[in-house]
Amino acid sequence: MSDEFVHGIMSPYELPSDEEQNLRPKRLSEFIGQELVKENLAIFIQAAREREEPLDHVFLIGPPGLGKTTLAGIISREMGTELKVTSAPALEKQKDLAGIITTLTPGSVFFIDEIHRLKPAIEEMLYMAMEDRELDFVIGQGPSARTIRIPLPPFTLIGATTKAGMVGSPLVSRFGITLRLGFYDTSAILTILKRSAAILGIGLDTDGAELLAQSCRGTPRVANRLLRRLRDFAQVQGKQTLDRASVKFGLERLQVDEAGLEEHDRFLLKTIIEKYNGGPVGLETLAAATGESTETIEDFVEPYLVQAGFIERTPRGRIVTAYAYKHLNLPNRMHDGTQRLQF
Ligand SMILES: Nc1ncnc2c1ncn2[C@@H]1O[C@H](COP(=O)(O)OP(=O)(O)O)[C@@H](O)[C@H]1O
Ligand SMILES: [Mg+2]
Repeated sequence: MSDEFVHGIMSPYELPSDEEQNLRPKRLSEFIGQELVKENLAIFIQAAREREEPLDHVFLIGPPGLGKTTLAGIISREMGTELKVTSAPALEKQKDLAGIITTLTPGSVFFIDEIHRLKPAIEEMLYMAMEDRELDFVIGQGPSARTIRIPLPPFTLIGATTKAGMVGSPLVSRFGITLRLGFYDTSAILTILKRSAAILGIGLDTDGAELLAQSCRGTPRVANRLLRRLRDFAQVQGKQTLDRASVKFGLERLQVDEAGLEEHDRFLLKTIIEKYNGGPVGLETLAAATGESTETIEDFVEPYLVQAGFIERTPRGRIVTAYAYKHLNLPNRMHDGTQRLQF
């Protein structure tokens, strides 16, 4: 693990390998896509630097694998300051937050991942730290307990979340900058694939890249993961370049289809179709029926399925769209033989 991850507790889904670290863009100019986010951020950084102030607190929102952690690293590098990283589940007690926040140096960047999972007592402590640059810290217990107030240096808090809706407004309102990352378009994914292929030392021709880009779910992390697996196949087959045929072969072997759906995505869609007649079906029911946790479905499986038009979320539950039936080659009919509503 790179030494930039000082506190170093991250979600198990994204423990960065050395290779993943190499693929991570280090500067804003290397960060591909998300043009508006990038342009605005460049201005905010330049302005803060000119004023010799830390950047305002940044709230980063977006599904997993779109570049939130990467941007936190980039921000600290562009500001030329230190980065401290933690994640909300690692901040169990007030002393956990105090322990890390009191080591911040002037201007440094403090990144809290999964900030929607902060405990209320920690969140309250953070309000004051963000706004007044002070930390109220209770020491001792019972009648001998007393509060000490610790001044903090100017710093930038970066909070990242996949679930902006679960972050309360008192916290949201303390962030001066909000950046929303959306799924990448195919041309941005194509550029990311080419960049990563060059770093990984594997050839990737235009036809191969175009085919692969379709299957990456608009997600850089997925693009890099598929590329590494395809490199494995190519390497063992003694090929230096991924062309259309080798990409097709690799994706088939990985059971990733041309829309980027994997076995568990298709299983989820088929479950809704076969067991619940296409929906609506509630999240809890769906989790029980598929054996996935509600969190996995909500955070990792569903966002792309919704974005790509396979699922719709309604107040009554999840519904599979006509496009999903078509994609899975399943007849789009109710049990009584009537045609389902087209979306
Ligand atoms: N804009 C981008 N350009 C190039 N690579 C990117 C970009 N965003 C993310 N990546 C790559 O995708 C991986 C996942 O990004 P990460 O920042 O860990 O996502 P998140 O924190 O949102 O889950 C990183 O290792 C990085 O290599
Ligand atoms: Mg992350």
